[in-house]
Amino acid sequence: MNAEDLIITAAALVAGNKGLLAMDESNVTCNKRFDNSGIKPTEENRRAYRELLITTPGLSKYISGAILYDETIRQRKEDGTAFIKVLIDEGIIPGIKVDTGTKNMPGHSGEKITEGLDGLPERLAEYRTLGARFAKWRTVISLGGGLPSRACIEANAHSLALYAAYCQEASMVPIVEPEVLMEGEHTMEQCHQVTEELLRAVFNQLYTQGVMLEGLILKPNMVLPGLNCSKQNTVHDVAEATLNCLLRAVPGAVAGIAFLSGGQSAELASARLNAINSKLNLKRPWPLAFSFARAIQQPALEIWHGESKNIEAAQRALLHRAQCNQFARAGEYNANTELQNQQSLQDALVSNRLQTNECKD
Ligand code: 13P
Repeated sequence: MNAEDLIITAAALVAGNKGLLAMDESNVTCNKRFDNSGIKPTEENRRAYRELLITTPGLSKYISGAILYDETIRQRKEDGTAFIKVLIDEGIIPGIKVDTGTKNMPGHSGEKITEGLDGLPERLAEYRTLGARFAKWRTVISLGGGLPSRACIEANAHSLALYAAYCQEASMVPIVEPEVLMEGEHTMEQCHQVTEELLRAVFNQLYTQGVMLEGLILKPNMVLPGLNCSKQNTVHDVAEATLNCLLRAVPGAVAGIAFLSGGQSAELASARLNAINSKLNLKRPWPLAFSFARAIQQPALEIWHGESKNIEAAQRALLHRAQCNQFARAGEYNANTELQNQQSLQDALVSNRLQTNECKD
């Protein structure tokens, strides 16, 4: 393990008000999102879409690192350039999802355990040779109907900590992602209580496994009411609950916190990130960044629609979301930011349409 490298990489991932582009959907998840947007779920479409994302001009102004999937880290641009080279040349640090997904937990109906520890040291060594410098492991915790069980929390916290220890041994920064899911009728207060319990369990295990917190990024959920909860709290309440929860459970030595979006709309995720970064009366020992997948990609995916004529407009949509989230990190995001974004997005769409019409003529 190279402790100094780990600390430098972890700090670089959350520096400059930038964030992470999570583009590590498994083939199954990526295909599902394609299906939902009317895009054919083929390997070539997955490759073309990921090429669109990583070749977005100016992306590194807002994005410090990109999380890839096993298929993606081996893929190339149409001209033959390896994706990983494109990222490194652009100054974006490549990362890789290394968990192999969730399975039903034995004896605990409705709960999941994340797998992927088998062969992990060998896979990490290969990914490092390919150029990856950080990794990601996600666990999911459901809330409601008596869940989560302590067994589910403990088992997932244990595997997250073992994964993190393997990563640091391989000189890869671990992104530790314990996610309390948004689905359900639970209140924000219930989410707060479970998120805090989960984070305490995770940090107990990280301590037990001897993981160096200065070389680690936490990727938590924001503290939110369930999607079907009758009371949807304000952006301000969410920011306060999220910060209080993190302050109670996350040691100050952690290099940074980069939120997942979890199915929030792109605008709401930015507004909440902004409010979290605006609460200056609460001390914050760590940078509070973003590591969104859906909340940063979805507009671009819908605009692209699997057609090369839409690439430029889709890239602008991605860039706009990335820029909005950079503003949010600085506590400078507001309705105007979004309006300006929409205006330039509109311009991009119009120019795209004009080009298309020219082609048709
Ligand atoms: P979302 O931002 O869509 O929740 O995805 C983050 C992620 O990386 C899931 O593992």
